[in-house]
Amino acid sequence: MNIDFTFENPTRIHFGRTAMTHLADELALYGPNVMLVYGKNSIKQTGLYDKVMATLNACGKRVCELAGINSNPRYSQLLDGCRLVKECNVDLILAVGGGSVIDCSKAIACSAWCDDDPWEHYWVKNLPVPTKVVPVGTILTMTGTASEMNSGSVITNETLKIKAGHQFPMSVACPRFSILNPEFTFSVPKNQMVSGIFDIFSHLMEQYFGGDDDCVSDYLLEGDMLALISASRKALANPHDYEARSNIMWAATMGLNKILAVSKVQDWEVHQIEHQVGAYCDCPHGIGLAIVSIPYYKFIMSYGLHRFVRYAKNVWRVDATDKSDEQIATEGIDCLSRFIDELGIPRRLSEVGCTEEMLPLIAESVNKIGGYHTPTTAEVLELLSSCL
Ligand code: NZQ
Ligand code: ZN
Repeated sequence: MNIDFTFENPTRIHFGRTAMTHLADELALYGPNVMLVYGKNSIKQTGLYDKVMATLNACGKRVCELAGINSNPRYSQLLDGCRLVKECNVDLILAVGGGSVIDCSKAIACSAWCDDDPWEHYWVKNLPVPTKVVPVGTILTMTGTASEMNSGSVITNETLKIKAGHQFPMSVACPRFSILNPEFTFSVPKNQMVSGIFDIFSHLMEQYFGGDDDCVSDYLLEGDMLALISASRKALANPHDYEARSNIMWAATMGLNKILAVSKVQDWEVHQIEHQVGAYCDCPHGIGLAIVSIPYYKFIMSYGLHRFVRYAKNVWRVDATDKSDEQIATEGIDCLSRFIDELGIPRRLSEVGCTEEMLPLIAESVNKIGGYHTPTTAEVLELLSSCL
């Protein structure tokens, strides 16, 4: 553990089949005005909306609603939410949905009482959060992002065509509580389920591929990857397998609640590339990640060979006998590629609406950071072209 750190995560988690029974006690901690934030229509179709409203009513809350949050939430929706918070003098934002609903809610919470334009304030200038921030609670319906237990918020500025994450301070923007019932994810369509699974896997790899010290976080990351591979195969065979869905849910939350990132040099370039693919094509986040991951990891493998060898051996159980490091590392990436096929995820950017004309614009606008190597615009363009 060579890098010093301070770790804090204030989110209280209620996990399991009975998790919803804690909602009333949580609501009692806040004032009467609740803003309910949700997506297009899934929570009405599953009946969760009625259950949540019944509890809110029983607790005597006055409810205003911000409905219709897009997958890949838009900046205009953040601004709509800020207006509503002020109009209704909101005491608590209750986000019911996946990462998009929760990310948008956290951004609203930190922006509503901020006098500046939030995009300029946070995403461009990275300025501090004002003293007045609205608390957020969440009921998770789609697993993957870990937004339920972190302070990140990824917003798409549709005018600028930039999709970008902002890390608010953990103490301020992490949800105060999150209700995680794996049964709520049974209704997630298969393409979203596999998108979430790959998103989790990608978070783990982004944190793993960086640094070369002996660090407990890397062992924990390997363990979470192993648990996720096992549970995903079971959930693919039977989406209503509670044990599998609960393991996926917790692997996701653990995967990006920042505990596995302590003392780690990290990468996050796959996410940077996907964000701009998403800004142009509006694809499900995890699908975009899967498409660019294989060319990206083949490209950076030589810069962090020792770590790719370890990944192949410890995560994919590649037999190293009589093989060179390059062969072992390549086999590890091949295993990842086969896993993407098992999940049934498309392999080409053209399958998610990306065109050749978009590629230079995407490559230019990608934020270049990287762990073992910082790519150039030309390298990103080559990588994107290879998976068009
Ligand atoms: O809109 P509704 O009708 O609710 O449908 C949603 C949406 O279409 C549907 N869904 C959710 N729960 C469901 C369900 N359908 C049936 N049954 C249920 N129980 O699933 C679709 C996708 O939902 P969304 O919230 O967009 O997915 P996800 O959780 O993958 O969130 C993606 C967003 O999170 C950002 C991504 O970039 C993207 O914008 N991320 C946030 C991160 C963070 N806060 O730390 C990190 C991630 O790397 C990621 O970038
Ligand atoms: Zn992600």
